[in-house]
Amino acid sequence: MSDPIRAVINLDLPGARISRHIYGHFAEHLGRCIYGGFFVGEDSDVPNVRGIRSDVVDALRALNIPNLRWPGGCFADDYHWRDGIGPRDQRPRMVNSHWGDVVEDNSFGTHEFMDLCEMLGADPYISGNVGSGTVAETSDWIEYLTRSDDSPMAALRRENGRDEPWKVPFFGIGNEAWGCGGHLRVEQFASLARQYSTYVRNHAGNEVYRIAAGANSDDLHWTEVLMTSFDDLTKVDAKAVPFQGISLHYYTLTGDWHDKGNALTFDTEEWYLALSRALHMEQLLTRHGQVMDRHDPHRLVGLVVDEWGTWWNVEEGTEPGFLYQQNTLRDALVASVHFDAFHRHADRVVMANIAQTVNVLQAMLLTDPESGALVKTPSYHVFEMNTGHHDAEGLDIHLLGVPSRSVDGGELPLVSASASVKGDTALVSLTNLDHAEERTIELDLRGRAYLEATGRLLSASELSAHNTPDAPEAVAPVTLDGIRRTDIGLSVTLPAGSYATISLTLA
Ligand code: AHR
Repeated sequence: MSDPIRAVINLDLPGARISRHIYGHFAEHLGRCIYGGFFVGEDSDVPNVRGIRSDVVDALRALNIPNLRWPGGCFADDYHWRDGIGPRDQRPRMVNSHWGDVVEDNSFGTHEFMDLCEMLGADPYISGNVGSGTVAETSDWIEYLTRSDDSPMAALRRENGRDEPWKVPFFGIGNEAWGCGGHLRVEQFASLARQYSTYVRNHAGNEVYRIAAGANSDDLHWTEVLMTSFDDLTKVDAKAVPFQGISLHYYTLTGDWHDKGNALTFDTEEWYLALSRALHMEQLLTRHGQVMDRHDPHRLVGLVVDEWGTWWNVEEGTEPGFLYQQNTLRDALVASVHFDAFHRHADRVVMANIAQTVNVLQAMLLTDPESGALVKTPSYHVFEMNTGHHDAEGLDIHLLGVPSRSVDGGELPLVSASASVKGDTALVSLTNLDHAEERTIELDLRGRAYLEATGRLLSASELSAHNTPDAPEAVAPVTLDGIRRTDIGLSVTLPAGSYATISLTLA
């Protein structure tokens, strides 16, 4: 048994606020995410309200889902919003060329999405079409959504059954403009981002946070050029800039884009490789953050990681373009390591969206196409266990004596941690990345006394453990036993391959 690790936390020195929006989600017209995942139609045997699955809504409400990005992804730059309004049987069809080359009937459109957001209590994050759309189309969409008077678009919305305008706090200016969103040069896109942002207007008191399509993983040049497209950020205030945030996309895979690695079958080396690739997010946030800091010392522009998560080879027998994959304990730890990084960079990272919510990539929820059964994945449970971090103030953790392992040419620390405080409650997140060895962690708690400590644990006997309709709770949180009060704080032992949260009631 190895020496205990010491984790020093100053409970009285809170840092940057951890926005609840880093716990955001993403729903694309891709495979069974929208159709069969969120939306089954009113005639379905699956219980629904206006076609939207009730079990999915209930499960996501339990996560306090803060925002939902839609309609893509790559799909967004092919999407023309007018095709998705009006009577469903009269909506034009289109080809979903990115995802399975299937015909999209547009039965889930603007009204259905906004209805879904209202049911979820989530803020809509709409991704606008820069790749194949027009400035006028974008301008009309935001008018349609948010205008309250008798303007042409507000009148059209009313004709389609919605009197009151909606609130749309987040609007994306394109998606992956360097790739599926038009294969643009960054200089060209930076100009378009300024232009499109101008026409995403604030109507009727609705203030929009505009997010320009940002870099692909390590592409610092993209961030650099986007940041130079602002006027002098040392002088102007945030409201004067054309867009308020820029995005970043980074996926975790153990192979390459031709053979990404498997969700369920992996060896110990691939376990560590996935976790080390997940930890690369920390470096990305640091390096993109440094580029942004040079131009924007007051941190007026936010970094929005609006696509992240694992991307494995599709499950055997499923349509390759539908990106359906299973989700194991390893995916859960990939998520917890990401959240630790997002918490540490809360002064720059204002929002993040896991890809994607239902039935696609690192999903929260999987639905069975035959029986309709809903399964919560191990990743879902990390989101649920972390709800206490939403809008809390980050606390630095200094970890001492953490062993590491050589992976992929670098050193992977075998424990990851983060913490936050909200009023009289502190929440500490601890991940034991070691596949075989348990770890004892001594929390050295300074600055405030605590009255009570309770813990929750997510683990399993197999690293590839996952949930299915027959075994929906194979990986689910349980009470973390054995929390021991010590002179300096408390001591706790985490099993191999596990994630735990400790909630402290402060004096
Ligand atoms: O999330 C799946 C796809 O990944 C998105 O559509 C695209 O933006 C990214 O390449």
